[in-house]
Amino acid sequence: MRYRSQRIAYAYFAVALFLYGLQLAFGMLSAAKYLGPDPLIDILPFDVTKAIHTNLLIVWVLTGFMGAAYYVVPEESRTEIYSPRLAYWQLGIWTVNGVVAVVGYMFGWTEGNKLLEQPVPVKITIVIVMLMFLYNIFRTMMKGGRWTTTENVLVAGLGLAALLYLPALLQFHNYTVSIFYRWWTIHLWVEGVWEMVQAGLLAYLLIRLSGADREMLEKWLYVIVGLVFIAGIIGTAHHYYWVGVPQYWLPLGGIFSARVQLALFAMAMWAYFAMRRSGFSHPNKLAIHWTVGSAIYTAFGAGLLGLAHTWPSVNKWTHGTLITPMHGHSAFFGAYVMVVLAVVTYAMPHLTRDGDEGRESTLGYWAFWLQAAGMLGMTMAFATAGIAQTYLERIMGLGYLETQLKIQVHFLMLIGAATVFSVGAACFIWDFFRQRPIELFGGPGPEVDADRPAPEAVLT
Ligand code: HEM
Ligand SMILES: [Fe+2]
Repeated sequence: MRYRSQRIAYAYFAVALFLYGLQLAFGMLSAAKYLGPDPLIDILPFDVTKAIHTNLLIVWVLTGFMGAAYYVVPEESRTEIYSPRLAYWQLGIWTVNGVVAVVGYMFGWTEGNKLLEQPVPVKITIVIVMLMFLYNIFRTMMKGGRWTTTENVLVAGLGLAALLYLPALLQFHNYTVSIFYRWWTIHLWVEGVWEMVQAGLLAYLLIRLSGADREMLEKWLYVIVGLVFIAGIIGTAHHYYWVGVPQYWLPLGGIFSARVQLALFAMAMWAYFAMRRSGFSHPNKLAIHWTVGSAIYTAFGAGLLGLAHTWPSVNKWTHGTLITPMHGHSAFFGAYVMVVLAVVTYAMPHLTRDGDEGRESTLGYWAFWLQAAGMLGMTMAFATAGIAQTYLERIMGLGYLETQLKIQVHFLMLIGAATVFSVGAACFIWDFFRQRPIELFGGPGPEVDADRPAPEAVLT
């Protein structure tokens, strides 16, 4: 770390990890409800706990992205953040807004549009916060006058994510029209602009951790982002199969979304080979695990498991079954959770008083492996449950609830794997909070680092 204002990232990471813990608590509660009977059904029914679980995921990952941007942009643009005060205000409003939304869901204050359940005042506050964030980042980049490809991709991804949230503000009475535009936000986020954020953060981490040539890495960054867009935009059609739109969406969805694999596998190879060339020699081994892990897990969860049900001939049977969370969980974890945890792990030695880049805590390794393995177990549990469900319900014609009773054993496996996962996440959160941060306000800041040359200058 070279700039004092980069420590803003610590506050963002702390809020993000706190919400991560809360997300998992609501996830466990939701999974327990699959087993029934549910003693909490009158106070906290499944639809409420599930909405809180998914909303917290989106909120904390975005908090992590914003924290990461506040860490990355000063280094890339070689200047302090334009207004640290604005950044802290932004975090405060964002957090209060998140709490209001969660409490609101508990009392039935919801729009009911899956993943975009936020009522209009909450949505408008989200837009205001995003504008505060983008303004601050943009002014910082203007001040520095140095615009690197890595940060351009990262910031463009975040800016476009804000823009694509706007369709979510539109209200329609017709369900087909409503769902049509819903995917402009959800799909174009996860298979489009959030991928830009992930790729931008990976590029930053690979440059820092592998010492590979920036020019070469950034060239590949363009290729990957280009591939995502070529396939991802028309690929939105893989959500239009059974929602009442014309038939021509079927081949478009299948053919284009299947192409996204190319981008995701290219990204995994890009990360692995860049690291391998360096001999994995950077002292922050845990950050290397999370960085390469993110790229590889994305190829598995988003790439392979997305491909598994993106064909109309498969999706015809699996749509709306547990096959969807099979893919959704591993894709989100690999692409977005792991990349945020990678940036946190990379940045922590610079944001804490200990300041040891080579800090390899046992807890840190447990955190990595238990989460990676736990998520694999959860993915398998959802997969087996989803296959059985598809067969019994869609092919044999059994009723929904009857089927749910027959697949209980898979839910037990799900809860077992989720427990392993949660222990891993708890290790990460504990390992984070037990380190003492450098002073967040005022104070001397990271004096030791102040005179260091830019990391690239060291590496090249
Ligand atoms: C990082 C990338 C990705 C993430 C985070 C992600 C996440 C998700 C999530 C959360 C859903 C459920 C959405 C909902 O029902 O509200 C979903 C659905 C879906 N995803 Fe992805 N996804 C990613 C990439 C992909 C890719 C690359 C493909 C295929 C090539 C794909 C294929 C699908 C399909 C077909 C569905 C719809 C399932 C259904 O409703 O029948 N996804 N994804
Ligand atoms: Fe999609």
